[in-house]
Amino acid sequence: MTMQPASLLVIFGATGDLSRRMLLPALVGLERDGLLPERLRILGGARSEMSSESFRDSISQSVEAELEGLPDSGQWSKALHSLLQRLDYHPVDLSSEQSLNEFTATIAERRGDGNVLFHLSTAPDWYTTACEALADAGLNDSRCRIMLEKPIGDSLDSSRQINRRIGQAFREWQIFRVDHYLGKEGVQNLLALRFGNAMFEPLWNSRHIEQVQITVAETVGLEDRAGYYDQYGALRDMVQNHLLQLVCLTAMEPPACFDPTAVRNEKLKVLNSLRPIDSEYLESCSVTGQYTSGAINGSVVPGYQDELGRESHSETFVALRAHIDNWRWSGVPFYLRTGKRLPRRLTEIFIRFRPVPHSIFGATPVRPNALIIQLQPEEHISLSLMNKEPGLDHQGARLSPVTLDLDRHSAFEQTRRRIAYERLYFDAINGNGTLFVGRDEVEAAWQWVDAIIDGRQRLALRPRTYPAGTWGPAAAIALTERHGHSWRD
Ligand code: BG6
Repeated sequence: MTMQPASLLVIFGATGDLSRRMLLPALVGLERDGLLPERLRILGGARSEMSSESFRDSISQSVEAELEGLPDSGQWSKALHSLLQRLDYHPVDLSSEQSLNEFTATIAERRGDGNVLFHLSTAPDWYTTACEALADAGLNDSRCRIMLEKPIGDSLDSSRQINRRIGQAFREWQIFRVDHYLGKEGVQNLLALRFGNAMFEPLWNSRHIEQVQITVAETVGLEDRAGYYDQYGALRDMVQNHLLQLVCLTAMEPPACFDPTAVRNEKLKVLNSLRPIDSEYLESCSVTGQYTSGAINGSVVPGYQDELGRESHSETFVALRAHIDNWRWSGVPFYLRTGKRLPRRLTEIFIRFRPVPHSIFGATPVRPNALIIQLQPEEHISLSLMNKEPGLDHQGARLSPVTLDLDRHSAFEQTRRRIAYERLYFDAINGNGTLFVGRDEVEAAWQWVDAIIDGRQRLALRPRTYPAGTWGPAAAIALTERHGHSWRD
C-alpha cells in the first residue's frame, strides 16, 4: 500500500544502545542527504526523566562520537544540528499505565493530520504492552505503522503469541518487522545480482550448483549483552533471522515484482521447503559450539563462561547442513555457519558450481567455478574461472583458477557506506515494507529452528568447545567433509 511519508517518528527506547549507535546516526545520515520528509518530527521516549533539551545534548554527544573520523565532518555536524531541531523527548515507563497514557496523549497531541511511524527499540517483552497502549489510545488507525526489532519471541509458540497480540492492535500491512541484514547494501545487491542479470538465473539450480555456503562470522564476544545472549544462543540470535533471510534471498524464485507481498511470498516458500532437521538428521546435520579462551588478532580473549561469570550450555557457534526440498534445489546442501569469537569478521555467500561434464584437458585438473559474494566487512563479488596459464608445455595446456573481481567500493567510489538503518528508516517512513519480515516468515523460521533446538535438548547434545580465534569445533569441519566438501575459510 502506498502511503504518505510519516510526519512523526516515535522511538520507544530512544536512550538505549541501539538508538545511540545506529538509529540516530542513521537519521543524521538521511538528514545529510536530504532524504527525511521536510515536516518530520521525531519524539524519543524512554524511562529516564529528562527534558528535550538534555536529551538533545546527550544524543548530540553520543552521535558525534559515532560520526567521528568521517570525511566531510562539516556536513555531518550540519546534519546533526538540523536533526536535533526535529527532536523532542518525553519520558515513558512502559510498566506504568499512567505513564503510558501520558505518553500516548502527547503523541496524539503532536501527530496532527500526518502519518506516524512508531519504532519499538525496547526489550521485546514490552512489545505487546506498547502496542496495546497505542491501540487503546486510537493510535493504530490507517495513518499509523509500527517497526519492531528482533527477536519476535524465542520460539514458535512465543512468537505466535506476540504476533497474535500485535495483530489485534495493528494490521499486518502496518507492521514492519526489522531484520537489519535486509537493510545492508550488500544484501540488497544480492537481489540485484540475481535478478538484474540474465546470466545467473539459468545456472541457479541443482543442475549447475553443487553446494552453497553461508557464513556470518564475528570476532566479538558477549559485548555487554550477557543476559540476552545467554538466554538466546546463536541458533535463536542469528540463525532464526539473519542466516535464514540470507538463505531465502539466495534460494528464492524470482518474485513477479519488488513489492512486499511478492517478495515475502517467495521467501516464505523457501522457508516452508526447508527440510526439518529432526532426530534422524540432528547429529549429522548440526554442530554447536562454545568458545573457550584464545587469541584474536594477536590479543588474548577470555572464554565464554569466563566472560559470563558462570557455567552455561548456550551455543556461541552453529554449523548446519540444510536442504531445500523443491525442484530447484533438490540435493544441493546449504551449509550455514555463524559464530562469535571466530578468526575474522566475515559475511559471505559462497556458491560452488558443478564440474564441467567432461574435461578435454587430459590429466590437467579443471576446478569447478565459484561465485563468492562477500557482504562484510567489504562488499566484494568474485567469480573464479579456469584460465590457461601462459606458456608451452609438453603435457598440453595447464589451467589455473583466476578470479574476476568486483570491488563495489571502487566501482561506486563516490557513494558513502550507509548504516543498514538508513535504508530501513527511509523505507518505513515512506511506507514501503518490502525489506521487512512478514509474520508468516518469522513463524516458519521459528518452526525450523525450534525443531533443531528441541531435538538437541532431547538428545542432550551439548555445544562442543572451540578456542576463540578458530573456525569452531572440529565437528563443524567433519560436517562438510563427510560429504566430500570443505568450508571456504
Ligand atoms: C544482531 C545479533 O542481530 O546482529 C548480534 O543480535 C550480532 O549478536 C549482530 O552481533 C551482527 O550484526 P552485524 O550487522 O554486525 O553483522
